[in-house]
Amino acid sequence: MLLITGANGKLGRVIVEEVLRRAPDAPLAVSVRDASAAADLAARGVDVRQADYHDLDSIRAALAGVDRLLLMPTPAPDPDARVAEMIPVAQAAAEVGVKHIVYPGAAEVEGLDFPLLSSHTRVYDAIVATGVQATHLRVNIYAELIAGEVTGAVAAGELAAPVNGARVAPVLREDIAPAIAAVLTQDGHEGKTYDLTGQDAVSWSQLAELASARAGKPVPYRSIDDTEAAARLEAAGIPAPFVPAMLGFYAAYRAGWSGTPSGHIEQLTGRPATPTLDAIGAVLDGTAK
Ligand SMILES: NC(=O)c1ccc[n+]([C@@H]2O[C@H](COP(=O)([O-])OP(=O)(O)OC[C@H]3O[C@@H](n4cnc5c(N)ncnc54)[C@H](OP(=O)(O)O)[C@@H]3O)[C@@H](O)[C@H]2O)c1
Repeated sequence: MLLITGANGKLGRVIVEEVLRRAPDAPLAVSVRDASAAADLAARGVDVRQADYHDLDSIRAALAGVDRLLLMPTPAPDPDARVAEMIPVAQAAAEVGVKHIVYPGAAEVEGLDFPLLSSHTRVYDAIVATGVQATHLRVNIYAELIAGEVTGAVAAGELAAPVNGARVAPVLREDIAPAIAAVLTQDGHEGKTYDLTGQDAVSWSQLAELASARAGKPVPYRSIDDTEAAARLEAAGIPAPFVPAMLGFYAAYRAGWSGTPSGHIEQLTGRPATPTLDAIGAVLDGTAK
């Protein structure tokens, strides 16, 4: 039995659809906080189980009979809270006899001090420490978030960001999901690490060209420093406590985070990820899943 947690979330839902497409007859359970929001899945024969990571009894009940677990992280904004939230769930899975845990974490870059990202690696290491076989899926920044840079630039008339000459290979959830579904429905991925990235890396100058095309007028790229970036973020209404995290992401881009395409999506699914500018365009057009 496969159990997919976070199945009412945006990524979780597309993964469930891909698993149903690949293995319609294999036993599938999902764990959700609100079972009524998954009534459509129950109607299609999916075993819908109600559980909350903060209620370990509900987690143990949801894990009954499960061999393979997709452990979806939550959007916890605090790195230590993320680790504290995930480890008991992984330990509960080990205790009830789960054989394989698949964890979709985040891409990382060696030497970068950004706990929001490295907390995913801490979680993965803790999963491995339980003794259960594991697979680490290191996910690049979502194309949706990079599309936000383009939308903001169209509104502002320029793309101002503290990234120097950084390049990114952001990825659509609809490209991630088939790769994760492949890992969940096949044997042989235990102990492996895959980097789920966009097809190609683009620069902020290319994002500015995309913004220019969308705006119908030149929208130039300007590399700025952190001080100006912080002032612009606050002026745009980002609450002050979130500004350091945003600057952390820009520092990560400068250090090469999410900037290297891997080809692992094609390796797992037989199809390459969507070309990056097309992926961002799909988000802007509202056609991305
Ligand atoms: N690579 C990136 O750029 C990027 C960006 C953003 C997030 N992420 C990570 O990727 C994950 C999935 O992304 P997404 O877009 O699918 O996010 P999402 O739509 O916010 O889904 C998050 C899921 O976590 C579940 N959840 C939250 N708290 C929980 C708890 N206490 N117990 C059990 N489940 C809980 C939510 O359940 P409900 O449906 O009940 O709310 C939801 O299903 C995020 O949670 C985050 O860790 C990655």
